[in-house]
Amino acid sequence: MSIPRVEEDEVEQLPPDIAKKARALLFSLVRPHLPMAVFLLVIVVLTALFLVIGPIFIADALDNGVPQAVAGDPGPLIRAVSAFVISAIASAVLAFASTRLVGITAQKVVYSLRSRLFGHIQRLDLGYHERSTSGRLVSRQTSDMESVQQFLTYSLFDTALALFEMTFIAVTLIVLDVPLALVVFLGFIPLFFITKSAHSSQRNAYRRTRTSIAKVIVHFVETMGGIRAVQAYRRQPDRRGTLKDEDTAYRDANTDALRGVAWFAGWTRLVGNVTQTVIIIVGAWLVIEGWTQIGVLAAFILYLRRFYGPLDELVQSFNLYQSASAALEKMAAVLDTDPEVVAPAHPKVLPAHSTDRNSGATSAEGSGQAPSGRSIDLNHVRFSYGDGPDVLPRFDLRIPAGEIVALVGATGAGKSTLVKLVTRFYDPSEGRITIDEVDLRDLDDAQLRKSVVMVTQESFLFAGTIADNIRIGNPDAGDDEVLAAATAVGLDPYIRNLPEGYETDVKKRGGRLSSGQRQLVSFARVFLANPDIVVLDEATAHLDIPSERLVQTALATVLEGRTAIIIAHRLSTVEIADRVLVMDSGRIIEDGTPDELISGAGKFAQLHKAWRDSLV
Ligand SMILES: Nc1ncnc2c1ncn2[C@@H]1O[C@H](COP(=O)(O)OP(=O)(O)O)[C@@H](O)[C@H]1O
Ligand SMILES: [Mg+2]
Repeated sequence: MSIPRVEEDEVEQLPPDIAKKARALLFSLVRPHLPMAVFLLVIVVLTALFLVIGPIFIADALDNGVPQAVAGDPGPLIRAVSAFVISAIASAVLAFASTRLVGITAQKVVYSLRSRLFGHIQRLDLGYHERSTSGRLVSRQTSDMESVQQFLTYSLFDTALALFEMTFIAVTLIVLDVPLALVVFLGFIPLFFITKSAHSSQRNAYRRTRTSIAKVIVHFVETMGGIRAVQAYRRQPDRRGTLKDEDTAYRDANTDALRGVAWFAGWTRLVGNVTQTVIIIVGAWLVIEGWTQIGVLAAFILYLRRFYGPLDELVQSFNLYQSASAALEKMAAVLDTDPEVVAPAHPKVLPAHSTDRNSGATSAEGSGQAPSGRSIDLNHVRFSYGDGPDVLPRFDLRIPAGEIVALVGATGAGKSTLVKLVTRFYDPSEGRITIDEVDLRDLDDAQLRKSVVMVTQESFLFAGTIADNIRIGNPDAGDDEVLAAATAVGLDPYIRNLPEGYETDVKKRGGRLSSGQRQLVSFARVFLANPDIVVLDEATAHLDIPSERLVQTALATVLEGRTAIIIAHRLSTVEIADRVLVMDSGRIIEDGTPDELISGAGKFAQLHKAWRDSLV
C-alpha cells in the first residue's frame, strides 16, 4: 500500500563536471553585462575606500585636531571632522547607486536565465519529459531560481564589498601601526581554520537543502496532478505522510545548515572580541610607553568593529552562495541535457502538393486550401525506449496519400509508440520513416509540425477563452474560421449554450467543458491547423456525443482528404477507415479493408463480432 517515493537520483543526478558547467553558465549570463560589472567593481572599490578612510580622519581629529583646538586653533579639527562627514556622505551616495545598479543588473541576469531555462525545457524531447517528474522542473524554475536571484541581488555585491573593505582595513592597519597590526593578524589564524571548516560542512548541508526542497516540490506537484486519484482512493493520509517525511528532511537540512551558521557566527564574534581586548591592552601599554598615539588606538578599535562586521555579512553571503551554486548546478544540468530529437542542420521541405491527389476540394477549409494527404513510409523501423526491449522489432508499412488507416490491437501492442514515431516525438532506433519520400529527421521542423498533427485522449485546455483554445491549431485564424471549425466538428451548438459563447473563459466557473467537448475542441484545432496527416490516438474515447453517427460525421469532416491513422477505441470508427491494421506485440498481424477483415476469420473478425453482439 505504500506509494512509491521519489527516488534520490530522480531528483539529483548531476554530471561529474557540473561545477565547471555552472561556472560557464554564470559567465555566459554575465557576459552581456560585462561593462556594467566592471563599473560596479569600480564602485565597490570606491565604496570600500570611503568606508575605510573614515576612521583615519577620526584618528587625525583626536591626535592633531583636539590638541590644536585646545591650544586655540580649531582649524585642523574642523577640517578632520568635515572630511569624515564628506566621506560618510560619499559612501552613502555610492551605496544607493550600487544597490540600484546591482538590482537592475541582477534582475536582467535572472530574467535571461529564466527564459533560457524555459526555452530549453520546451525544446527537450517528449522522451525526456516522460522520464522526468514535472515537479523537478518546477523546482528548477521556482525555488532554485529564487535562490540564484537572492544571491545575485543581495549578496554578491556585499561579499565583494566586504572582501575589499577587509583588505583595505588590513593595509591601513599596517600603515597606522605595525606592532598593533601584527596583534590583529594573529587573530586571522583561528579565523582561517574556522572559515575552512565551515566551508566544507556548510557545502553539504546546503546541497541537502536544495535536494530536499526539490523533493517537497516534486511530491506536491505530483499530488496535485493526481489529485483525482488521490481523492478517489482516499490516499490523502499516505500523501500527507510522505510529504511530512520530505518536509522533515528539508527542515533538518536547513537546521543543520543554520547550525553551521550559528557556529561560525559565534566563533568569529569570540575571536573578534578577544582580538579587541588584546588590542586595548597592548594598545594602552604602547600609548603609556609613548610608542603610539591614542588616536591610532581609537582608529584600531573602530577598524576592528568594521572588520568583524563584514565578516558576519560574509557568513550570510556564504550561505546564500552555497545555496545558489547548488541551484545553479542543477539548472546547468538541465541546460546541459540535449534533446534527443534534434532539428535537422540542413532541413528539407516537402514537395508541393500535386493536384492529382484525392483532395476533398469541396470542404470549406479554414485556410482556404483544400487538404490533400501525403504518403507515409516506414522502412525497417526498429524501436525501443532507451535501453529497453524492442517495442517495434521490425516494422515496414506504406500508407498512400489520403488513406485513412485504423490501427487496432491489444493494450501494449505498440500502437501509441508507432504514432509517436510517425509524428516524430521519438526517432526510430533503426530504419527510417519518410513522408512523401522525405526522412522525418531531415524535415524542416516547422513544416513537420504543420503537416503532421496528433490528437490524443487528453485534450489540454490552456487558460483563455474557447476561441483562443481552438485557435491553438492556427493562431492566425479569424473569428469566422474559428466558428467554421467549431461548426464542422459539431462543437458550435455546445459553445452557443455557454454564458459568453466563444469568449467564455475555459478555466472559469461556467466555462468548464466535459471531456467529450474538450475532445471536440481538439478536433476543431486540427480542422484549423489543416495538416496533411492526422493521427488520432484513442482520441474518440471520451466523446460523449449521444449518437455514434455524430462522432463519425465529426471525424469524417476532420479527416476528409487527409492521410490519417486512427487508433480506434470504438470499432464503429473503423467503418470510416479505408484500411485496418491489427497490431500485436509490435507487429502487424492483419492488414486489409474493413469488409475483408470482418468477413475473414482473423482476430479482427472475432473482435468485430463480439462488439456487434454487445450492441444488441
Ligand atoms: N515512455 C515509455 N517508456 C518506456 N516504455 C514505454 C513507454 N511508452 C510505452 N512503453 C512500452 O511500450 C510498449 C507499447 O506501448 P504503447 O505503444 O503505449 O502501446 P499501446 O498504445 O498499443 O497500448 C508497452 O510495453 C509499454 O510498456
Ligand atoms: Mg496507446
